[in-house]
Amino acid sequence: MDSDFTIQNLIPKSLVQEFGSPLYVYDEEIIKRQCQTITTALKNSFDQGAKVLYACKANTNPNILKIMRSNGVHGIDAVSPNEVEVALQAGFLNNQITYTANYMTKEEIEYAIQKGVILNVGEIDTLKKLIAYQAEVIIRLNLDIGIGHHNHVNTGGNDSKFGINLMWKEQLSEIQKQGVKIIGLHQHMGSKIMKKDHDSYLLGIEKLFQAATQELELPYLKYIDIGGGFGVKYQDYEETSDLNLLFSEIKKLYDKYFINVKPMLFIEPGRYLIAESGYLLCTVQAINTNKSRTFVGTDSGMHHLIRPALYESYHEIINSEQKQVEPRIVTVCGNICESGDLLGVDRNLKVEVSDVLVIQNGGAYGFSMSSNYNLRERPAEILVRDSKPYIIRKRETLDYLLANVVIL
Ligand code: LLP
Repeated sequence: MDSDFTIQNLIPKSLVQEFGSPLYVYDEEIIKRQCQTITTALKNSFDQGAKVLYACKANTNPNILKIMRSNGVHGIDAVSPNEVEVALQAGFLNNQITYTANYMTKEEIEYAIQKGVILNVGEIDTLKKLIAYQAEVIIRLNLDIGIGHHNHVNTGGNDSKFGINLMWKEQLSEIQKQGVKIIGLHQHMGSKIMKKDHDSYLLGIEKLFQAATQELELPYLKYIDIGGGFGVKYQDYEETSDLNLLFSEIKKLYDKYFINVKPMLFIEPGRYLIAESGYLLCTVQAINTNKSRTFVGTDSGMHHLIRPALYESYHEIINSEQKQVEPRIVTVCGNICESGDLLGVDRNLKVEVSDVLVIQNGGAYGFSMSSNYNLRERPAEILVRDSKPYIIRKRETLDYLLANVVIL
């Protein structure tokens, strides 16, 4: 970096002065760019035959959902009743929302049926419960192929809790005989699929298309949902998918298997649409050197961005300003009382106390996975639109954190 870092010309230190530190900041232009890139690439191969559903678990701020809606995203993949509510509030229609909860309660099933959203079910036992409602469902399959940047996000194969294995195909046909209509098939193999994963990914897609056309009897088939998982770069050496190429390969497979019936294809990207737009800004409070390491201690941490602690994920961290000090190898940490509260290990940084650091790719699974551990507030969220900052979520307060406590 040869100049100070800005977000649509806004200076991180000024944002922090105005709205407090730490702070989540989203650049609307980047969200629009990502929506545009993926919807255009999909259209290039499938024309009107495919739609993008945003997997909103990546970031559920309603303003973000609205931006997606205005930029070509057709619907939402929701995984809880609250996500469904946020999607409806953002203006999506019930038939544009898939509800992909796992191990649903009776209340959740009834909620989804009453709202008229598209149910996506991944367990035989849940399908049996749906006989009573003669429900229409997409079913989530586990076709033995999982991909992902970490075991925790690998959602296919024998070690994954998700999806129905084809060894249950007799039961599936029995459940259909009893009145459940299977209107779609779904598979989500995992998260952060990169160029290197294409062969296994396409194999998984082919298995899904084979299941739809050769393995299962599906007279009501309307949808084929290939899940999300499209990666973005967190480190320089990583190679992302060329989406035009990937979707054209998927289209070739689609044309090979779907000769008569042409189900609508859904994709459900989360990370791809929102990761790169988001930055977590935090301020260096103290630098602490012990015999082997120098720790750059910030006012944020694993409670605001748990990905490094949970998956050992790499997030680029830069100083928001050009510095005239010597670079050194440091470990950036937070203020949580756990030794695993590290945001970046062994980074080469020019850094001093009071500097504002910018943690990149914070838009996906940042705020949405944050917590109040150590009874700390979550940061405010700011949207930068036309080079102006707007608060889209206020910083929490102690009153907010204690609102549901009952003192005896
Ligand atoms: N569809 C389904 C059914 C999913 O389970 C997921 C993610 C997605 C779509 C969206 O996946 P994406 O396009 O964002 O990769 N917290 C993890 C990622 C967990 C993803 C879980 N399911 C992380 O921070 O890497």
